[in-house]
Amino acid sequence: MVTVDESKCIGCGTCAADCTVLSLRIKDGKAVPGKFCIECGHCTAVCAQKAITLTGEYDPAEIIEYDTARKFEISPDRLLDFVKYRRSTRQYTDEPVSDGDIQKILEMGRYTQTGANLQNLRYIVLTKDTLREIAPIALKTLAELDIAKVDKKAMRVPYQYLDFQSTWQYWYSVYQKKKKDLLLHDAPNALLVVSRKCDELNGAFNIGHMELMVNALGLGACLTGFATLAFDVSQELKDRIGIKEGEAVTIMMVFGHPRVKYLRTVNRKRARYEII
Ligand SMILES: Cc1cc2nc3c(=O)[nH]c(=O)nc-3n(C[C@H](O)[C@H](O)[C@H](O)COP(=O)(O)O)c2cc1C
Repeated sequence: MVTVDESKCIGCGTCAADCTVLSLRIKDGKAVPGKFCIECGHCTAVCAQKAITLTGEYDPAEIIEYDTARKFEISPDRLLDFVKYRRSTRQYTDEPVSDGDIQKILEMGRYTQTGANLQNLRYIVLTKDTLREIAPIALKTLAELDIAKVDKKAMRVPYQYLDFQSTWQYWYSVYQKKKKDLLLHDAPNALLVVSRKCDELNGAFNIGHMELMVNALGLGACLTGFATLAFDVSQELKDRIGIKEGEAVTIMMVFGHPRVKYLRTVNRKRARYEII
């Protein structure tokens, strides 16, 4: 809910000009919030008089004032080098990720923008114990998946994943013999982004940002699309972590302290693009 402090508002219209749903208007020299508002907070952020706050579910105390000394900017080259150097981590130590680091990763998700500012994702953090419990279920699910019966058009992950079934069967046999988990990489933690089935774009965008935060914290992460497929096809897995009707695990990411250090960046194919 948008609240205007009339004693501070000077009716300059800066808020109304930046209101994407044209909800705010100026009446009698004061900003007046309309009924339809997506609560994006632009009016709060842009008001030089600090006359507008988001209230209700929002905590005004978490607003940070812009000041150059705090350095909100990241240098483009530094950012690009950071992204070039990050790798998917598939070897972890047993050390669990600290609560403080998990909170930072979740904060990154919370502050990542959502279309129409829906903010309707939820997250499930899995501990090592839970991961050790679900790993064999997920591996068995994939190893025994009846590929012929899978509706490829309804798949939420690329259907090319199905070509990996012999790999999954091998991984399951390794797990049975050595208790080594090649699906979830024996990671100490995982995070699932849960969205409505029709809102996966937000979930995918969210995980991209959170994965960068994992790396900024000096940790490593690996998105696990195969396990995401397992959650899609196994009611047992959905029940275990409480995925409700109409919801989907958009993506799962395992993360933890890396047991491997990369010494350089990697190559990539050239970008395919057109300027039209
Ligand atoms: C959507 C998505 C799903 C992925 N699923 C898996 C997975 O199930 N298992 C895995 O080991 N890596 C998975 N990866 C990691 C990719 O294999 C990896 O990003 C790619 O090989 C490039 O390596 P890099 O991340 O180290 O640059 C996934 C990555 C993405 C973006």
